Amino acid sequence: MPESCGLQSAPETTKEGNILLGKYQLGRLLGYGSSAKVHLAQNLFTGQNLAIKSFTKHRIVKTDLINFIKREAAILRRLRHPHIVRLHEVLASRTKIHLVLELAKGGDLFSRIATFGRLPEHLSRRYFRQLISAVAYGHSHGVFHRDLKLENLLLDDRGNLKLSDFGLAAAPDQMPADGLFHTLCGTPAYVAPEILAKKGYRAAVADIWSCGVVLFTLNAGYLPFNDSNLIAMYRKICRGDYQCPKWTSPDLKRLIGRLLDKNPDTRITIDEIFRDPWVARGVDKEEWTAIGMFQEEGKVSSKAEEMEAEDRALNAFDIIGFSSGLDLSGLIGVMAERERFVVDETPEGVLRRVEEIGRGEGLFVNRKGKMGNAGVEMREHNGNLVVGVDVYRLNGGLTVVEVNGGGDGDAKGMKFWEKLLGAVSEPFRGEF
Ligand code: ADE
Repeated sequence: MPESCGLQSAPETTKEGNILLGKYQLGRLLGYGSSAKVHLAQNLFTGQNLAIKSFTKHRIVKTDLINFIKREAAILRRLRHPHIVRLHEVLASRTKIHLVLELAKGGDLFSRIATFGRLPEHLSRRYFRQLISAVAYGHSHGVFHRDLKLENLLLDDRGNLKLSDFGLAAAPDQMPADGLFHTLCGTPAYVAPEILAKKGYRAAVADIWSCGVVLFTLNAGYLPFNDSNLIAMYRKICRGDYQCPKWTSPDLKRLIGRLLDKNPDTRITIDEIFRDPWVARGVDKEEWTAIGMFQEEGKVSSKAEEMEAEDRALNAFDIIGFSSGLDLSGLIGVMAERERFVVDETPEGVLRRVEEIGRGEGLFVNRKGKMGNAGVEMREHNGNLVVGVDVYRLNGGLTVVEVNGGGDGDAKGMKFWEKLLGAVSEPFRGEF
């Protein structure tokens, strides 16, 4: 493993040494919260550096975390935006569930402000634009983050913002009929006053308030509403009782006032934010495009939406759902004669790996069919069929893998299964 992964001693999350499911080498701990740890990792097949967020099953069972993990994975799976952390795959071992995420090496904005203090205005503008671009994209897909705060704003190695942690997000299927949410969500200092009022809130409008708290904090170096007494803090939030520091420019002060408008009905909208003079200052079209969002003839268009449209037609994750097969390790040893699952890889990639494993097991490998619907048969030297693997192409670079044979009772087949499960991701398995 290259040095870039900064390995420390083998973390306890690993199954064999510090290799996870035969595919990822785990590196140092990047961060941890109450329910998950995030490790640096490297894909052993591609060399790509990633972040792996691991939840222990113990905690999952104890705290009913599973619904949050499922929601986060299902939401991230559907979002493709340059400023939203990408989910590569979901893995499970006997004791843990892992989200394999795009790596944001630069740490979070909370640590940055805590260490180096407030940001110059041009940098606050840059991060705020990127945040609004990500939030607008989520909203246009019916996804409301509901926990926007500096700790969830990460930076990649080029200093670009990546929005993370969608564990509290609301997905389109959760939208109440009247559009009003009632769940108390978020982190106290970032919570909008209408959430505290407990009369129901519009999640998109509440997200905009939190963006206001973020922008204030980037510029000031401290939170707009703060008090060691929580009730006193809530009172300040409900009164909209904050004061911009003296260095805040008039345009920025005005924008913060529109974001931290305690009346959700008059609060600035996303479209207005994009047209705001402070936000739009000095923007050229190239930069606007680079942040994934630009306006043309009054229409908001998004590079990310175009990216996503390409692979929306048939998404295997939509077909098979999510809930079955979380304990993938449990599959080994109880494998049926025929199994189907979906992997986030091309058919050719899967077949090449299958062939490699077969040859490694001393089997005769025979390719059949054409790409898009092809297969491999693996036989012993006496001609006995051990395993047949067929692949079917799905849209979005996904592949259905169908394995025939290799089930219980066949030592060679079992060995093949173990290696296959280790080599390819098996994020979503189900009956379909
Ligand atoms: N901490 C939480 N998620 C992360 C990510 N994707 N990259 C780096 N650190 C993280």
